[in-house]
Amino acid sequence: MKIFVTQPIPPAGLEVLRRAYPDFQMNPEERVLAPAELVEKVNGCDALLTLLTDKIDDELLDAAGPELKVVANMAVGFDNIDLAAATARGVLATNTPGVLTDATADHAWALLFAVARRIPESEKFLRAGKFKSWGPLLFLGGDITSRTLGIIGAGRIGHAVAMKSRGFNMRVLYADEVPNAKLEQEIGACKVSVEELLREADYVSVHVPLLPSTQHLINAKSLRLMKKTAYLINTSRGPVVDEAALAEALKNGVIAGAALDVFENEPLVHPELLKLDNIVLTPHTASATIETRSKMATMAAENLIAGLAGQKPPNLVNAEVWGKQRK
Ligand code: GLV
Repeated sequence: MKIFVTQPIPPAGLEVLRRAYPDFQMNPEERVLAPAELVEKVNGCDALLTLLTDKIDDELLDAAGPELKVVANMAVGFDNIDLAAATARGVLATNTPGVLTDATADHAWALLFAVARRIPESEKFLRAGKFKSWGPLLFLGGDITSRTLGIIGAGRIGHAVAMKSRGFNMRVLYADEVPNAKLEQEIGACKVSVEELLREADYVSVHVPLLPSTQHLINAKSLRLMKKTAYLINTSRGPVVDEAALAEALKNGVIAGAALDVFENEPLVHPELLKLDNIVLTPHTASATIETRSKMATMAAENLIAGLAGQKPPNLVNAEVWGKQRK
């Protein structure tokens, strides 16, 4: 079997892979392979262990050729994979749900606190030697306890973010196509429309997958619906937020602040956002804890191994391919 891992992943995952397939190949460098390089590397592969930075499209699948059976993505999101293209070729595609839920939700909270209490901005000020005395007006931020949290997308991660608000006695609103009865029972969360959530929430945290229907879900119009004192947090996918519109809104005081872990054109960040103090930016690291990344790597390896062994991978995302998969 020819297996290719597109970048070094945590050792736990590599170990699982090595036990089954000692001769797997891996790009040894911690960098995204350019499409032309990837096309060359995948040729003749039976399985690929990929990352969200690898674009798996018609061209790549054809370059891999007819032996390719599994694309095991080490991420919960799989918008980097053209699922229809994989399914049409009988290729199994898998993701890593569940194991990163808490780490990602924790990061959303870290961002919420960082932006509301102006942590990066005030730390920079202090390090620059500008802290001369306690000041009644120094770095005033937003209250968190007893405020309203709005969750857009109440799936696994949105649910976890909402549950973690219990310590802060928050009112929780959520917007989703499907009701989340458990969340309603557990903390009295209320299902509302996106518009109502934007109007009411002091903190809007976004947890939707990237789909044509969620592209620029947060745009100039939606930002104008938010309170002037509200904050936006995005740990989902960058293109869900219109960055140019967000920069304008932050500059003009349409909302108080924002915190982003994901960007429209990663690794690029809209230059106007980089100039602003009322935004906190992290480099797509919401799931980046040692333990979580080890679990993600292990899960991806296990999915790949199951697929090659002719077993249904535990985290198959194109379930309709099952029964028609390449053997
Ligand atoms: C990270 O963004 C993931 O989808 O796992």
